[in-house]
This record gives sequence, C-alpha cells and structure tokens, in this order.
Amino acid sequence: MARRKKVYEGKAKILYEGPEPGTFVQYFKDDATAFNAQKKDVIDGKGVLNNRLSEFFMKGLTQIGVPNHFIRRINMREQLIRSVEIIPLEVIVRNFAAGSMTERLGIAEGTALPRPIVEFCLKDDALGDPLVSEEHIIAFGWAGQQDLDDMVALALRVNDFLSGCFLAVGIKLVDFKIEVGRVWDGDFQRLIVADEISPDSCRLWDIETGEKLDKDVFRKDLGSLSDAYTEVARRLGVLPSNVTHATKPTLIN
Ligand code: TMP
Ligand code: ASP
Repeated sequence: MARRKKVYEGKAKILYEGPEPGTFVQYFKDDATAFNAQKKDVIDGKGVLNNRLSEFFMKGLTQIGVPNHFIRRINMREQLIRSVEIIPLEVIVRNFAAGSMTERLGIAEGTALPRPIVEFCLKDDALGDPLVSEEHIIAFGWAGQQDLDDMVALALRVNDFLSGCFLAVGIKLVDFKIEVGRVWDGDFQRLIVADEISPDSCRLWDIETGEKLDKDVFRKDLGSLSDAYTEVARRLGVLPSNVTHATKPTLIN
C-alpha cells in the first residue's frame, strides 16, 4: 500500500493528504503537551477519545447548521476532514474566569462573566500564542473585518451549543478554544470551524463538585487525564457507561 503523504504534524495531531482533492485525514495522537510543549507526556488512549469526541461535537454542530470541517470518522484515530486555509488565530470564548484571564486580570477563578467574552490569540508558538486585539488583526492582515465578525458569530454559536451539551450531562463549560478555516465554494469564500473540539481545548468542570475534567488535569498534575476524558465521553454517551478502565477505551460503533 502506498505511504500517505504527511502534510503537517502538530503537537496532538497529524494531517495526511486525503483520498480526494480538498480533503485531509486528521490523525489524533496520544501526545499531551502544555505550556507551549515545555510539559509533555503520552496518555494512552487520548487520541482515540479526542477523535470520537471531536466527531460528536462537529456532527452536532452540523445538525444545527454550524459549518465545520468534519466529513466522517475513518477509524479509531482518524477522521476525514475538509481541507481549509487556517486563519492564524485561536478564538477563545470564556463563560467563567479561569486560566490566563485570572492571571492577566486578577479575577478569581470561577467568577461568572457578565457575558461570554471572545478573545483572539495569534497562533505563533515562538511567541507563546500572544493575546491580540482586533486592531492588531486588521492592521497586520491576519484576518479582515468581515472574517472577525464571522469568527465571533461562529464562536458564540459553538459556545451556545457546547454549553447546552455539557450542561445536560452535569458539566460546566468554563471556556474553550476553536480554530477557524477559510474554504471556497465556487467563487464564494466562507469560514468554517476546523481543528478539533475536545477536552484538550476546553475547560470543563463538574457542576456539583467542581472537579476538573479537561487538560488542566494534565497541566496541573491533578490525576489521570485519561480517566477525566473517559468520564466526559461516558457522560455524553460517546462511550458505554460500563467502561471502567481508562487506558483502553471501548468504542461504540
Ligand atoms: P487560557 O486560559 O490558557 O488562555 O486558555 C483558554 C482556553 O483555550 C482553554 O479552554 C484552553 C484553551 N487553549 C487551547 O486550546 N490551546 C492553547 O494553546 C491554550 C493556551 C489554551
Ligand atoms: N497547547 C499548548 C501546548 O501544547 C498549550 C496548552 O494547551 O496548555 O503547549
């Protein structure tokens, strides 16, 4: 069998050329990194869980009319996606204060924000993905004004959808990050949700106990990351409820 061409390798995923033009195969690795890859580990089964969780969220977004790159899951670790031109920004939505917002503004962790706050960070590992303003984005040409408006609208729709999904299973969506890509349909270009949506890119707290069920478990050494992600997947019905072990998740097909 011919070897597939690797198009890009990131910290948690690999992109291969897809079977037809305009597609990529997105492979989810077990690698976990934090603090711009200063902290690294391999978490058995993380890639399998994130592949399944990202599929779950992207399919749900499709069902409510939010355009995204997901086409279909191929196997345990791979999904077929539409190729996009990634906008070099991380779009963050915050519902409660946590992470860098608490450090930057001195707001106590967990404080409910008066409304969802959308932030942009420049995707640049060497600079540590710095927070940037809309003025920077327009002036330096990372995206246009229409793109910005579209990104905010997309991010808020994703926020409403994800908040509801998680609330239904007793989880508070504190904040999350999405990436957005440009696609062309004939002469028209539009922006769609790309990359992944998983506990790697969200902050998720149990509503009753406040227990963290996201990558902060790894960032802050709070326990087993794979147990946390398995719990999220189990609650969402992505895994059968009788899965008790963490390292080798059993998938429903
Ligand atoms: P922050 O509080 O560290 O700025 O993170 C905000 C949200 O973005 C949080 O849900 C984690 C997510 N995030 C990523 O997905 N990738 C990153 O590189 C960083 C720094 C945060
Ligand atoms: N994704 C970033 C890294 O791998 C930062 C983070 O998620 O904390 O280093």
